[in-house]
Amino acid sequence: MAPQVDVLINKQILIERALVCVTTRITKAIAERGQGTIALSGGSTPKPLYEALARQALPWEKIHVFWGDERYVPGDHPDSNQRMARLAWLDQVDIPEANIHPMPTAAADPEQDAQAYENELATFFQVEAGHFPAFDLVLLGLGDDGHTASLFPHTPALTVGDRLITVGNKDGQPRLTFTIPLINQARSVVFLVAGASKQQALGEIFALEADPQQYPARYIQPQGELLWLLDQAAGENLRPS
Ligand code: 6PG
Repeated sequence: MAPQVDVLINKQILIERALVCVTTRITKAIAERGQGTIALSGGSTPKPLYEALARQALPWEKIHVFWGDERYVPGDHPDSNQRMARLAWLDQVDIPEANIHPMPTAAADPEQDAQAYENELATFFQVEAGHFPAFDLVLLGLGDDGHTASLFPHTPALTVGDRLITVGNKDGQPRLTFTIPLINQARSVVFLVAGASKQQALGEIFALEADPQQYPARYIQPQGELLWLLDQAAGENLRPS
């Protein structure tokens, strides 16, 4: 499916558009399959979206929240993506704790936690080893360097094709991350990107000759919908080919 690119006039309008996007896709999933599954992105951009979701009246008991990547820190650490989403959103709504599926970061070996989360996904989605479940919605951000989730340029995580979860690496710091094939199995992938610092990476990603090893977000070509939600500052010079 060809990517759709929406450039919104400012970050407030971007977040309003993202809120409608998330709620409509999760509500549709619940109507079709009885539940909605969403994988969250981390970083700073999605925080106002999570704060807006906290003000929605949704059937939280039918929504399951996962993370697409996580810094390898305790769940209450200031850098934790889990902590940010809980404080901004999940602690404010009546969602069962059993519906919240944080990435484990307590083992001494990140590979062990990556395997544990992979096992949790396989059990939840009832898929066999080597099969990739389809999330209803995967939210992604974009780093200034073109990374997404914790899939960083020229790292081994970019070539992992037979796992759901792998260990990413940012400046020597381990991270857990969805793999490219898992992301690409999603029914809907939505990038939420704001700020002028993303312009250069976006320009490269939408250029035909971009090297995905250098701009890993280029590898994201899902089976289902691919929607880029950009604010003007990030997307004003974009000419999607
Ligand atoms: C993370 C994210 C990462 C993030 C980008 C953009 O754990 O940091 O998942 O992929 O989305 O780095 O981060 P900002 O939204 O802070 O610019």
